[in-house]
Amino acid sequence: MTDAPRLADLHCHLVPGVDDGAETFRDALVWLEAFAEDGITRVATTPHLPARLADSDYRRRVVDRFSELAARAEDRLPSVELSLAFEIRLDGAPLDPADEALWLGPGRHVLVEFQGLVLPAEPQRELSSLLEAGLHPVLAHPERYQGIGHDRAWPSLWREMGVRLCVNAGSLWGAYGREPQEVARGMLARGEADLVGSDHHARPHRSDTVREAWDLLRDAGHPEAADLLVGENTRAVLDGGELAAVPPAPLDTAEEDGSGVGTTGRSSWWRFLGAGGR
Ligand SMILES: [Fe+2]
Repeated sequence: MTDAPRLADLHCHLVPGVDDGAETFRDALVWLEAFAEDGITRVATTPHLPARLADSDYRRRVVDRFSELAARAEDRLPSVELSLAFEIRLDGAPLDPADEALWLGPGRHVLVEFQGLVLPAEPQRELSSLLEAGLHPVLAHPERYQGIGHDRAWPSLWREMGVRLCVNAGSLWGAYGREPQEVARGMLARGEADLVGSDHHARPHRSDTVREAWDLLRDAGHPEAADLLVGENTRAVLDGGELAAVPPAPLDTAEEDGSGVGTTGRSSWWRFLGAGGR
């Protein structure tokens, strides 16, 4: 296996005791340790946040919990740079564009998702509002929205608007079923994915990693796309740089068996944590 330098993840759920994060601080640190062992040293953890709760006790509780996690991680895992953002659910409530703590980084990117994993009636409307407000939306898992398989023009239309698209790692090997896998792989083949995130959930257990996506892409002969999708573009979002165009990276689907396991080798932390739970 090739050494994986400076990988990064901007979509995961780790904050203990809230959202779908870890049960305990100790568990969250174990996950972060596993990230670091896989070469993932820049991590933005992104608890779900409905837009209507942008100013709420729930959000303040998430921030408190994250602060404690960050303090513990700094002691135990100094090599991991950890930050907090949110996976903002677009529920019709307006977002304050000046609310910097919602941003993924200084470039004003915000990670957003549509409600209920369903494509809305007007999938461009709320994204346009964010762009007009001076924010740069990064749409989480575009391949997973119900209905996307019937209208595969949306990814390219969103990108033309200026929206960045962040595919889930697990979609590449069928972790969410056949349609998201086909849509995600089609996007990669056309160079329409800007980023890959893990969407790691500590609860319920979902342990896909961006390292596995990086391995899969490199093994398939796409090292440049791998480095951009899982490292360089992710860091550009988190640290305020420019994103680069990702070259087309077609993946062979013939070997997939639909089991959800895929063909990529599971990384060290998968073996460490086991397939059945923590
Ligand atoms: Fe998520």
